Amino acid sequence: MSGVIGANPLRDAADRRLPRIAGPSGLVIFGVTGDLSRKKLMPAVYDLANRGLLPPGFSLVGFARREWQDEDFAQEVHDAVKQHARTPFREEVWQQLIQGMRFVQGTFDDDDAFEQLKATIEDLDKAQGTGGNFAFYLSVPPKFFPKVVQQLKKHGLADQQGGSWRRAVIEKPFGHDLTSAKELNSIVHEVFSPEQVFRIDHYLGKETVQNILALRFANTLFEPVWNRSFVDHVQITMAEDIGIGGRAGYYDGIGAARDVIQNHLLQLLALTAMEEPLSFDADALAAEKTKVLGAVKLPKDLAEGTVRGQYAAGWQGGEKAVGYLEEEGIDPQSKTDTYAAIRLGIDNRRWAGVPFYLRTGKRLGRRVTEIAVVFQRAPHSPFDHTATQELGQNALVIRVQPDEGVTMRFGSKVPGTSMEVRDVSMDFAYGESFTESSPEAYERLLLDVLLGDSNLFPRLEEVELSWKILDPIEEFWTKNGRPAQYPAGTWGPAEADEMLARDGRSWRRP
Ligand code: BG6
Repeated sequence: MSGVIGANPLRDAADRRLPRIAGPSGLVIFGVTGDLSRKKLMPAVYDLANRGLLPPGFSLVGFARREWQDEDFAQEVHDAVKQHARTPFREEVWQQLIQGMRFVQGTFDDDDAFEQLKATIEDLDKAQGTGGNFAFYLSVPPKFFPKVVQQLKKHGLADQQGGSWRRAVIEKPFGHDLTSAKELNSIVHEVFSPEQVFRIDHYLGKETVQNILALRFANTLFEPVWNRSFVDHVQITMAEDIGIGGRAGYYDGIGAARDVIQNHLLQLLALTAMEEPLSFDADALAAEKTKVLGAVKLPKDLAEGTVRGQYAAGWQGGEKAVGYLEEEGIDPQSKTDTYAAIRLGIDNRRWAGVPFYLRTGKRLGRRVTEIAVVFQRAPHSPFDHTATQELGQNALVIRVQPDEGVTMRFGSKVPGTSMEVRDVSMDFAYGESFTESSPEAYERLLLDVLLGDSNLFPRLEEVELSWKILDPIEEFWTKNGRPAQYPAGTWGPAEADEMLARDGRSWRRP
């Protein structure tokens, strides 16, 4: 008999520590010549294979316009893997993977190409034993989504026959506002049922983001103070030092808020602020995230509670950086935001009155994503004012990247004869506590798709609620002036500092 109190033999039967290995299956990537595919998807497939998490006959099919043969495609994957994979290159893994690699050439309105795709899948079922189980990854600009899903339907590729599965993986942006998101969703759901659709928000695949749940709900230490009685405010920062690179076509007209606040940052907010889910099943998680996103409240005065910026020329890491309007492919009159800061409230008992400040930007001081829960000052201090001048507010900082970990900031006595108190930090760093490096977000998420596990994929309702939050802000920005300029390499426009200063607070300088 187990001596562990509360041990549950039924639950223990499915030991969650065992590796989860995908069953017979394959992946079709539309838009296989794009950046995402090369930098993230192909390497993730290899890394999964290298970790022994893919079935022996796993198949990868690329679909694009290029005049490639299977060998050319395999060469592309090879180069991408060599350049971007997380785990070391092993010839035997590669030789096995290459057996299931195929390329289908065509455009999205080419019926013959989709018939060819169908035939390729049927061949792979026979040659590789994929069992008819295929995921279709739409790594294509949103304007092509409708065409691709309609073609999948027309050519019978979405049909799940004889116990096999078909799944659609959809990359953001899911529309550019609530109306377009709804249209898109209805097109997708004409072809695929909700269980077949996996909307990717790669932030949810990051270890440190999943750790928000462990930190909050596997410990007793934090949850008692995780509320309006103790928390002063929360800052969620996603800062990037890069500019828009070669993504002008995608980025211009979209901007920072639609690009990352609508999805990544609001998901971080939801995980930070939601109530404890009944379990970690997809339905239970979605229920809590949906509830908290539904309780998000916009600032009364959007002029005072939001800021958008655009980077001007400046210096980044010792190098000259051009301004956004001088970037190749950008309309010189563009009003697109490359920086956005928003103050949100959450209308519920736990968070009433606690501001959540969200900010993101390109060409900022450095690359860092973090969630800082900043606590109220002690209600009373028995120390001299002069002794606590260097004492800030306690804070718990979840360092999402690049320096993955958690920091706790609190006051400590400075050694010496006087009672001086100053801020110190206590750090947990993944690199020091664990020997294994964190898998890439796309590894985790691709594996989940193949396993049919949708916990880490935002639901339709979450996507729509996020647009509901953002739409009024975007409308307000469109009607009112231009984004404030900030020099590349700085921490954003002065207006963002002023926004917090009006609340008697300041941004962290991570
Ligand atoms: C993407 C955005 O979703 O996330 C990009 O479209 C951004 O603009 C990227 O650069 C950042 O991802 P990560 O994982 O490097 O923080």
